[in-house]
Amino acid sequence: MKANNQNKKLVIIIAAIASTGGLLFGFDTGVISGAIPFLQQDFGLKDSQIENITAFGLIGAVLGALIGGRISDILGRKKVIISAAIVFITGALWSGISLNPTQLLISRFYIGIAIGISSFVVPLYIAEISPTKMRGTLVFLFQFMITVGILASYLSDSAFANDTNYESWRPMFYIGVIPASILLIGAFYLPETPRWLMKKGKEEESRKILETIEEKDQVESIFKEMKDDICKDSGKTSWKIIFKPWLKNSLIIAVGIMFFQQFVGINTVVYYSPKIFLKAGFEGNEAAIWASVSVGIINVLFTVLSIYLVDKIGRRKLYFIGLSGIIISLICMGLFIIPPDVHASNYKWFLVISMLSYVGFFTLSIGPLGWLLISEVFPLKVRGLGSSIGSLSNWGFNALVVWSFFKLTRIIGDAEVFWLFALIGLFGLLWGYYYIPETKGVSLEEIEEHWRSGKSPKELKK
Ligand code: BGC
Repeated sequence: MKANNQNKKLVIIIAAIASTGGLLFGFDTGVISGAIPFLQQDFGLKDSQIENITAFGLIGAVLGALIGGRISDILGRKKVIISAAIVFITGALWSGISLNPTQLLISRFYIGIAIGISSFVVPLYIAEISPTKMRGTLVFLFQFMITVGILASYLSDSAFANDTNYESWRPMFYIGVIPASILLIGAFYLPETPRWLMKKGKEEESRKILETIEEKDQVESIFKEMKDDICKDSGKTSWKIIFKPWLKNSLIIAVGIMFFQQFVGINTVVYYSPKIFLKAGFEGNEAAIWASVSVGIINVLFTVLSIYLVDKIGRRKLYFIGLSGIIISLICMGLFIIPPDVHASNYKWFLVISMLSYVGFFTLSIGPLGWLLISEVFPLKVRGLGSSIGSLSNWGFNALVVWSFFKLTRIIGDAEVFWLFALIGLFGLLWGYYYIPETKGVSLEEIEEHWRSGKSPKELKK
């Protein structure tokens, strides 16, 4: 039986409000690229100072993911979303108002904390509040909003960019206050998740919310399963539970999927696509801007397709199709990035096509799947902590790849770096065969039961 329409609409609205956190994640990671040239002129920054400002944002995100998990298990998902929104607002103002590079660096670190927190608490919140059959689709909304945020930041950066005004970078940051305020206001109206309420012993409240969001014939069984799950492991601390042997696979899945999500090199393209285009023989700033915008548009379009597919064809198929596409695109990118004087100039267009197909396959598959799986594979008692470990790995791997990219291109060559990413992707296929679980149509409580019975990830299915 399908969720009745009323419930469906309500849940979609709830998920849409929460995923504004994804929009801020995307916006605040993307905004810096357009601000860089102006910051360099205004503060006279060297490349290394720029790298530090970008890196401090990522370090803040690692810290946010690290501290946020336990806090969301203790205070609840809703309060953590509200706190993140406040940090986003104050952080955007602080970044825009900064009087010197040090202030800017600290403000990016500060806003990084909110990015890190929202990156796991939003998918977690959505997963816990969604009816089983719509869970994949609704959590993918989060990735959709990340991509919208990235695109919005590219577009607003180019709208504010004014070559005669060195301080153009300030409004680029200020504008982030708008989505953050929407999140803050919206978050006050969000209900707490029934799963977290149950964990805190608020059974009646939990049941009421479950009744408004879940399919009618599912309410009782899910309520009972949640209650049973809470009784197991009672009295033990989260850290003790999460390292239990029966949760080994959950941890391997959360860290593993984020490893492959980042080590196929996505953010070298998201952050540096203009530089890659210039290397391939395109000329001028305009070409560079179009590079970013086209990457941003493909990012959004393919996420729409993934939202449609995830609860239809399932997680495993999406993973294998997407990752195979990524590998082939990476091999082509390596072939076509060879300097234009070696090849005919038309080759640069092949680079564009392979780069866009690479981004498309990523957002279709391993991008959103990473965030979905970390919100699904942990049992209720440690779901906050578990997904924050996944998110922490994501930011740590992200920082490592972005930090080493140009150094690696100097050591082994441009094409070779893309082929290295392709090779890592191949390992990802092998790894995924054993570790990607088919969670489509399986309730969060059934997933927990599956681990407890000692079965492997690939045996999971409805
Ligand atoms: C990744 C980000 C990436 C974004 C691109 C997300 O799933 O975690 O690192 O920038 O997708 O769309």
